Amino acid sequence: MILADVAATEPSAAMEILWIALPYVVMATMITGLIWRYRYDKFGWTTRSSQLYEKSILRIASPLFHYGILAVIAGHFLGLMIPESWTEALGISEHTYHTLTVPLSLTAGACTIVGFALLIYRRRTVTRVLERTSTGDKIMYVFLGLAIVLGVLVSWYASGIFGEGHNYREDVAVWFRSVLVFQPNGAIMAAAPLPFQLHAIAGMLLFAIWPFTRLVHVFSVPLQYLARPYVVYRKREPHPTGSRAPRRGWEPSRRD
Ligand code: HEM
Repeated sequence: MILADVAATEPSAAMEILWIALPYVVMATMITGLIWRYRYDKFGWTTRSSQLYEKSILRIASPLFHYGILAVIAGHFLGLMIPESWTEALGISEHTYHTLTVPLSLTAGACTIVGFALLIYRRRTVTRVLERTSTGDKIMYVFLGLAIVLGVLVSWYASGIFGEGHNYREDVAVWFRSVLVFQPNGAIMAAAPLPFQLHAIAGMLLFAIWPFTRLVHVFSVPLQYLARPYVVYRKREPHPTGSRAPRRGWEPSRRD
């Protein structure tokens, strides 16, 4: 549908609910949910790591998934937040933009989905991990899995792996930014291809349950770890240098 048709389309109830009301209900749920969780369950704000129970699959699956999803998040930022007109003003044509981003996007999507599949396989097959998987975790995995699988599908659809290819920067991205500036353009999203609509709905539902799941750990990544001194482990015996004043924590822990 071309833009003039979109503007002329009568707003339908489904369009208003899905693409105008739902995004704000989700935002409100996420903000109030996170505040509530932090105030009432501060000590439950954790990944609930299962590394203790199984390491060999986790060692491959976890970095694959986490580095993949970080690249996917960067891709969402680039694709949804940077208007097409900006990249064109920099002399980057739509064709060049796609030639540069499609291989990165497909690789990121593949790492994420393979990592996710391995994490689910591990959770299902390692009894000690399965025993520590709550109903809430299972619900979260369904929502996360839906968003990821539909995301990879739209990525294939956008790049023309199946279908004829679609430039989502002209509809989905325009809707996304219109919501953020509180001038929601629901009609443009209602006219986007169905796979994009389903993926956006799955994404919003995931955001809505986010505060009530272990995904809250995303907001407490220990970035200070990158700049802190190592944890220095020392034996209990008295230090051989005797009365020397202790220094800041970069010294090697072994005594020669
Ligand atoms: C309303 C929110 C969202 C919108 C509008 C949206 C939109 C999009 C679009 C347009 C693409 C195609 C990217 C491309 O091919 O370059 C995509 C891909 C993808 N999305 Fe989303 N998304 C949303 C939320 C999410 C969430 C919450 C997740 C899961 C955590 C997610 C996971 C993915 C994945 C795994 C891909 C494929 C990876 C890739 O090819 O880069 N999305 N999304």
